[in-house]
Amino acid sequence: MQVVETVAEVRRIRRAAPGSWGLAPTMGFLHAGHVSLVERARAENDHVGVSIFVNPTQFAPTEDLAAYPRDLARDLDLLARAGVDLVWTPPVDEVYPPGYQTYVTVEEVTRMLEGAARPTHFRGVTTVVARLFNVFQPDRAYFGQKDAQQAIVIRQMVRDLNFPLELVVCPIVREADGLALSSRNVYLTPEQRAAAPVLHRSLCAARDAWQAGEHDGERLRGIMAAVLATEPLAHPDYVSAADPNTLVELGDASLGVLLSMAVRVGKARLIDNMLLGRVVD
Ligand code: PAJ
Repeated sequence: MQVVETVAEVRRIRRAAPGSWGLAPTMGFLHAGHVSLVERARAENDHVGVSIFVNPTQFAPTEDLAAYPRDLARDLDLLARAGVDLVWTPPVDEVYPPGYQTYVTVEEVTRMLEGAARPTHFRGVTTVVARLFNVFQPDRAYFGQKDAQQAIVIRQMVRDLNFPLELVVCPIVREADGLALSSRNVYLTPEQRAAAPVLHRSLCAARDAWQAGEHDGERLRGIMAAVLATEPLAHPDYVSAADPNTLVELGDASLGVLLSMAVRVGKARLIDNMLLGRVVD
């Protein structure tokens, strides 16, 4: 496994290795969710690249950029064992050199949900992911369903800017009690950790209702909110039952629905989701 910091080195290694390349972009502090992307990329490509970069432009000034958990030695060990060929760990000024001034903005699908709560977030994500695509030039890029809106936003960018790659969205990896794996779960105290599976329970309650024929969007949102309300440590930012393509809140969810939520538990802001019915195209 080669570990490099500069764009020039990534390009040199990429060009020297013929065959298909899969890329899994990450911000590090890796867990089994990230590893699932790498394993899928390993199975589907000749070569696998991973980026580890805590991207400052996707954090608002009030957010946890400085405190974001990091453990590069452990990450590299995990990636070597998963059979990764190339890891890019750029310093900030390799990605954003002095004088940097170009940003990629996706419009409608960034306005709601995470975009409403974090107005500059997706501009940072699409900007860095466009850069990663240009540097690695992967044949396939691997993202997690955990960040459902992020996957939708990137799909839109790939379409709109004709990136010549296939986007692969991988299922959410969860703990045994349902909590979706996240680097930010380390912010939870034991008591908060015990409360956190309420997100998954509320999604399951809405899924069960949907499967039993409850297709009214407002009532599905009500079911999720009611389960969250049983946990005093959980403070919801939003609960959503939205169109899986446009992310517009649904009245009639009979064709399919993306159930999603952001919930503050202590210092952590947890997100989770479940896609029902129609698969996103
Ligand atoms: P990060 O939060 O490190 O996540 C990297 C990738 O891992 C994302 O595609 C995310 O959806 C996926 N992932 C995280 N938790 C997962 C889980 N429990 N199951 C499955 N996949 C999971 O998302 C980012 O970084 C950044 O925004 C990035 C795309 C790297 C741009 O900076």
